[in-house]
Amino acid sequence: MKTYLVGGAVRDELMGLGDSDKDWVVVGATPEDLIFQGFTPVGKDFPVFLHPETSEEYALARTERKTARGYKGFVFHADPSITLEEDLVRRDLTINAIAKDEHGTLIDPFDGNSDIQNKIFRHVSPAFKEDPVRILRLARFAARFPEFTIATETQILLEQMCEEGEVDALVSERVWQEISKGLMAESPYRMFTVLLGCGAFQKLFKNIEPKYLDERHQEALKASIDRFKEVRASLAVRFAVINYIWPIAQTLRVPKECIEMADLLAKTYTTLCNSIQLKGEELLSFLQVCDALRRPDRFDELLLGARCLVLPTHDKEGSKVVLEKLDTSTHHIKHMQKVALSVDHKEIALQAIKQGLVAVQIGEAIDQARLKALEAAMKKL
Ligand code: CTP
Repeated sequence: MKTYLVGGAVRDELMGLGDSDKDWVVVGATPEDLIFQGFTPVGKDFPVFLHPETSEEYALARTERKTARGYKGFVFHADPSITLEEDLVRRDLTINAIAKDEHGTLIDPFDGNSDIQNKIFRHVSPAFKEDPVRILRLARFAARFPEFTIATETQILLEQMCEEGEVDALVSERVWQEISKGLMAESPYRMFTVLLGCGAFQKLFKNIEPKYLDERHQEALKASIDRFKEVRASLAVRFAVINYIWPIAQTLRVPKECIEMADLLAKTYTTLCNSIQLKGEELLSFLQVCDALRRPDRFDELLLGARCLVLPTHDKEGSKVVLEKLDTSTHHIKHMQKVALSVDHKEIALQAIKQGLVAVQIGEAIDQARLKALEAAMKKL
């Protein structure tokens, strides 16, 4: 029995990147051998085990055979006679198909290390085609390593896979898993250019009409994404901003907080840019629409999202003007939020209860006090 470090951990180490999850492959063993040594079996579809002390994943070397469409349509075969090379050849990219033994020696039958040095994404074998998730993986790796280019033969394969409809078999949860990783990577825009370049985007997001994929929209998307880093945008903010330009939510299985942020940004962006004009009840009700009084942290996130957004209708000058306007508006609305929050709503509620008021009336009393405070603050401006 021999154990090797494989996949992302070896790749990242060769790239001089920090700690990554360690995946191990075990050659020459049976499931019983591992269980006997204290490993815990966890694999649903194929034999994967957790190490008794480190809890790292150990998979028995295996081969795969495609039996049906989609990412689940595989039959796996694992037995002690499967060699390391047989396990490596079933993997997606050469940079992910390098193994390292206990002496630190690399086993690199597909020249993954030279592809790392030359910054090239290259598929290991035609079996790449059997798993459409790999298109998404490649796109999100491109977002993570934006200086890498795609080998010509791999680009051709990606295009073929899209034409042949493999992408249609992807389930929305899996698509989101990969897209969300790409959104948090170094250059999320690159993920979209890879997906567009091979035709996967057009198949995945059929609801987005071609006119929204024109140069103007793509530039706006890029300019918006370029602002993410500066404001350290969260996943929800990134998603909301992108969804404003390209409504990708319709086809994805997106977590609630991302959808809520996207809806909130869509609903409030225009008013946010002009919040300086809001007065009295309008101002209070806008703060309530933004949920700025109940969820101040999320309101701050919303403001970050608005700050990132560059609309396709704006040229460079226009977007500078909008940003300046937004800065003033943000400053104003944040001040007004503070004023409204400074009203002691607990004390008002207590008094109202003493007077025998019912829930709706208590809410109204708090609103009245906030309104008064906002009007007083407006007068001072
Ligand atoms: N792999 C593959 N095809 C897939 C998924 C995984 O070939 N559809 C292989 C690759 O060799 C990959 C390894 O399994 O390196 C581990 O996969 P995973 O942990 O999902 O990804 P990593 O490459 O480790 O990337 P990350 O650092 O993002 O986890």
